Amino acid sequence: MDKIIITGGPQLRGEIPISGAKNAVLPLMAASILTDKPITLQNVPKLSDITLMSELLSHHGVHVTRDFSAQTCTLHAASITDTVAPYEIVSKMRASIVVLGPLLARCGEAVVSLPGGCAIGTRPVNMHIDGLRSLGADIYIENGYIHAKTSGLVGATIVLPFATVTGTENILMAAVYARGTTVIKNAAKEPEVCDLANCLVSMGAQIGGIGTDTLVIDGGTRLGGTTHFVVPDRIEAATYAIAGAITHGDVVLKNVVYDDLLAFWQPLERAGVVIERMEPQAANAHASYEDVRVSMSAEIKGVDVMTEPHPGFPTDAQAQFMALMTLCNGAAMITETIFENRFMHVPELCRMCADITTHNASVLVRGVNHLTGATVMATDLRASVSLVLAGLAAKGETTVQRVYHIDRGYERIEEKLRTCGAEIERVQGGSTAL
Ligand code: EPZ
Repeated sequence: MDKIIITGGPQLRGEIPISGAKNAVLPLMAASILTDKPITLQNVPKLSDITLMSELLSHHGVHVTRDFSAQTCTLHAASITDTVAPYEIVSKMRASIVVLGPLLARCGEAVVSLPGGCAIGTRPVNMHIDGLRSLGADIYIENGYIHAKTSGLVGATIVLPFATVTGTENILMAAVYARGTTVIKNAAKEPEVCDLANCLVSMGAQIGGIGTDTLVIDGGTRLGGTTHFVVPDRIEAATYAIAGAITHGDVVLKNVVYDDLLAFWQPLERAGVVIERMEPQAANAHASYEDVRVSMSAEIKGVDVMTEPHPGFPTDAQAQFMALMTLCNGAAMITETIFENRFMHVPELCRMCADITTHNASVLVRGVNHLTGATVMATDLRASVSLVLAGLAAKGETTVQRVYHIDRGYERIEEKLRTCGAEIERVQGGSTAL
């Protein structure tokens, strides 16, 4: 298993290109099932989760072509040859659940393995199932699989108990083929959900309320192909903003949608970080993208945050923000309201001499003068990357194990950090990379 070794201390300076959003690409790839025409996604990063989704869709009969140099992925579901999403793949990546709605809509049936829990929580999919039942699907659970059938989906008004991201995406993709109008209330508003909805509209779907908590879908239109540029990864941008701040550096995040992170920039500025929106550049990949400069020269102030559904503080940036708060002058209370077990990074940060105590859904972080390097590991993507961030600032050497977690959501992380002066290397399978 690969490891990442970091020698802390260097102040990061330079440009960091932000890749396309993993959590947008995955449902966008599943949307290919909805049409027998090809769709091409641009700005697609090279991530292991995307490889897994490619494998799953290929299993269903989708022809997937990836061009890593052009960062594109073309998907053509001329016909669906298998409506079973097997446990072997789904258990490796929970996001596989987003094939459920499209398979049901396109084929009238789907047999999708229950994804099961993961390190950060039990992650049930009851809201997905209840929403699809509201559209007329007959669904039962047997042998660890969701068995769904319909003779034709019918539009309905659905009120989600929680603004579930992939739940909204599954129901949205099914609703585009439901006869009549579907209203999804308390829908998730994450930028990745909006990106999916915008892509579906470009394929011919009729969707109103995009970006609000009420989506209105006029179903029944056969969808065609499209070419879609994937929205930048706001969580990757947040992660590298913390990298710049925790090292008291000065970095420019390239191709960011600033407004996707308003609830993140504000506590960061209260912590003493200088955030500067730069003038749109001709080189920006898209008209609505811009570069954001993040610099830190003052002491880190303790700032309380609470995670919430978008547009609140993103749960996927909680571990990264906590790494910064371990070095604050004072204390910070961090409350996780989305998942019931998303503090796996806490004991590992404490092994680096952080001072953190957990109280149910909150932690109290008391700032320390410095962290010390250690051998650490985590069990989920964002917890793992928070340990890399801590290692950038720690005295001495930090070895982060189980790097495959990081490779799920961060493209070329050591390269992007090294270009800004970080002393970081990947050790493959226990031997130093040549
Ligand atoms: C998406 O997961 C993201 N994954 C997660 O990112 C992200 O943390 C999460 O949304 C919240 O923003 C993808 O988009 C692929 P939810 P998702 O359904 O859709 C409960 C990362 O690190 N719930 O919004 O699975 C659930 O248990 C990953 O990139 C139900 O109870 O999250 C959780 O407590 C991690 N029943 C809360 O809602 C349901 O049917 C939010 O879950 C569905 C969800």
